[in-house]
Amino acid sequence: MRKLWATALAAVLSVAPFAVAPTAAAPVPTPTPAPAAAPAGAALALTPPMGWNDWNAFRCEVGEQLVERTVDTIVATGLKAAGYEYVNIDDCWMTHERSPDGHLVPDPVKFPHGIAGVADYVHARGLKLGIYESAGVETCAHYPGSLGHEQQDADSFASWGVDYLKYDSCPGNQPTPARERYRTMGDALARTGRPIVYSLCNWGEQDVADWGAEIGQLWRTTDDIRPTYSRMLEIFHVNVQLADRARPGAWNDPDALEVGNGMTADEDRAHFSLWAAMAAPLLAGTDLTRATPGTMAILGNTDVIAVDQDPLGKQGRPVTMANGLDVLAKPLADGSVAVTLFNENAERAVISTTAYAVGLPAADHYVLRDLWEHTTGETTDAIAAEVPAHGAVMYRITAAGSGPNR
Ligand code: GLA
Repeated sequence: MRKLWATALAAVLSVAPFAVAPTAAAPVPTPTPAPAAAPAGAALALTPPMGWNDWNAFRCEVGEQLVERTVDTIVATGLKAAGYEYVNIDDCWMTHERSPDGHLVPDPVKFPHGIAGVADYVHARGLKLGIYESAGVETCAHYPGSLGHEQQDADSFASWGVDYLKYDSCPGNQPTPARERYRTMGDALARTGRPIVYSLCNWGEQDVADWGAEIGQLWRTTDDIRPTYSRMLEIFHVNVQLADRARPGAWNDPDALEVGNGMTADEDRAHFSLWAAMAAPLLAGTDLTRATPGTMAILGNTDVIAVDQDPLGKQGRPVTMANGLDVLAKPLADGSVAVTLFNENAERAVISTTAYAVGLPAADHYVLRDLWEHTTGETTDAIAAEVPAHGAVMYRITAAGSGPNR
């Protein structure tokens, strides 16, 4: 599977440095039926959701063609095979007024075939569609919010074939507590009978990490990300402390990825490593139709994705975080441990730890798989690497041999 993906990616990248997707009108070679959504009541998001969200790269410039070209790219480049599944429309998809009978209306210029038309396109290619609304009278970009219209809007989403709702918290200073407003929409979604992943976008406010899992499958832990190393670092520092809240079906959300949006290659690799180590949703936030081979190689690193998607569903914990030299350990279902060595500083540094410190069982020796270099090494206990400035090294470490060495 991994080899196939690597081959597919290499093929795409060797032909076109900027992967060119078929146009929206291109026929699908082998039409696939709309994926039967999981039966109502089935557990959702047992691993962190993966996919794409338009906001970081496009803000309000969203529309049917962008979504469909992105879908084509996700399929053609192998990102779908690597696990990217949800194609999520963010704010600004609707008109400024509800219909006379109170329904949300997709902007007819941006979405000439409505959201249902886009959903059909997405489903026919084996992917799922996400949408955005807000738990207030208006969205953050001042479109109609869902407060007081929760059931009507949830019914619209379900009837259009929506599979994922990002529910924002604009405008601020609401009279009722967020928990109540989020629960109202969660109950409305449940009553539709359609399994819809429910993403609470409450920016980490009002202790959402304490109650988010009662209501949805993921909750934002901070205010918005930006495509800078310093902002990515701030968010990491908050989110990494919330490891005990994450479990299958309940994830801390440090926001969509900024990979490909202006950080250096080392910073982008560190960003992707940290999000995977924290079992965060992996929602690409760049223009995939113009992504460079370097960006595609980061987003498509199936060794790192496997850490994020590990079925044990543990968020990596800090082992040490001192002087900007961080070690994170994420236990994996097969007994191995993903170890991330992250250098926050602006100079190269050696970061070291031990198999014991990261929670590996006593063993004769350990096999280290370098998840960026795709090489394998061995150690008897010490784990160390020279890590570039603002960079990360990531290993998957397995105990091997018989007999303890300590
Ligand atoms: C808020 C959210 C962002 C994005 C915008 C859209 O800022 O936190 O992720 O959805 O609203 O207006």
